[in-house]
Amino acid sequence: MALAGYPLGLRFTFLDRTEDTPGGQLAEIITGDFDDPALLERLAAECDCLTFDWENVPVEPLKKLSGDTPILPPLAALETGQDRLAEKQLFARLGIPTAGYATVDSKAELAEAAGRLEYPCLLKTRRMGYDGKGQYMLRGEDDLEPAWEALGGTALILEEFVNFDYEVSQVAARSTRGETCFYPLARNVHKGGILHYSIAPWSAPVLETHAREYLEAMLEHFDYAGILTVEFFVCGERLIANEMAPRVHNSGHWTIEGAHTSQFENHVRGILGLPLGDPSARGHSAMVNLLGAMPELSALLDIQGAHVHDYGKSPRPLRKIGHCTLVCDEQADRDNKLQDLLELASTEID
Ligand SMILES: Nc1ncnc2c1ncn2[C@@H]1O[C@H](COP(=O)(O)OP(=O)(O)O)[C@@H](O)[C@H]1O
Ligand SMILES: [Mg+2]
Repeated sequence: MALAGYPLGLRFTFLDRTEDTPGGQLAEIITGDFDDPALLERLAAECDCLTFDWENVPVEPLKKLSGDTPILPPLAALETGQDRLAEKQLFARLGIPTAGYATVDSKAELAEAAGRLEYPCLLKTRRMGYDGKGQYMLRGEDDLEPAWEALGGTALILEEFVNFDYEVSQVAARSTRGETCFYPLARNVHKGGILHYSIAPWSAPVLETHAREYLEAMLEHFDYAGILTVEFFVCGERLIANEMAPRVHNSGHWTIEGAHTSQFENHVRGILGLPLGDPSARGHSAMVNLLGAMPELSALLDIQGAHVHDYGKSPRPLRKIGHCTLVCDEQADRDNKLQDLLELASTEID
């Protein structure tokens, strides 16, 4: 966000739990907890606008802030995105299809719900899940006990397993002036619940029409500003909403080089009430996540058209520590180079 905002003459201050964070390379870091009222007051007093790039920042302390510094995207969207049940209820209210589900608060409820939704089904924590964490796949009755052992004791949701053809996401931007724009649809490939790579634009006009209709309804509902992303399962010509993210999204990272205006720039423009920039694609892009440890830089740069992003995070198994985006004029060229890139990046995720 800061990299996108500096050319516009904007300045940034970050709140994070440690100084050793990617933003520390770019701006002052105020270190502390996200729910520390004094730190939040200080941040609000120093800034013209507050925003977030992580959807699990506690909402209550932000609601209690005294001044009138805008917090965007709206806290109602943040709150909804933090709870898989609230998310599904919103989707239903706006006529957006979702997988069948049941809330689960006891072992008996789990057995009852699994019987009703049928196997396979997926038990998830309602809150704080990311990168496939906090999920347990149930294939039969034998899995009830271990699933409850693994996740029981916190609010849970059991979801029907969607036998999807593939996954896509729609990234949209809206400004405080009510202007909206939509990025081309991206196709996402996950491995082990973690986004492995995205391809964009993904040409699927019927799906794109549905996706835009759904996001339009959500943007209106929240009187939204900033970037909003929704992940969908594709079943034939139907979209089933999986989850929403009220923030810039991993599946939108390709837009940094692959779109005329990146999601980061449009996020910043949107929350500050500036005109939004052109979200259309510059060519054929693919974004591959770099997990665990960075591949050799020169090997990545050997691939012509590759744009490397090393976040400067310490290596840890399966941690997202960077990504690499290809932008090519020809789709076939992109597809070939994607294979090379996947080979370089695949050591960790396989
Ligand atoms: N109900 C489901 N049916 C089939 N696959 C699912 C379902 N829920 C999640 N998945 C798979 O797991 C991935 C991660 O799940 P998701 O709910 O998006 O959690 P996270 O918050 O970790 O991204 C999804 O992108 C999809 O590949
Ligand atoms: Mg997800």
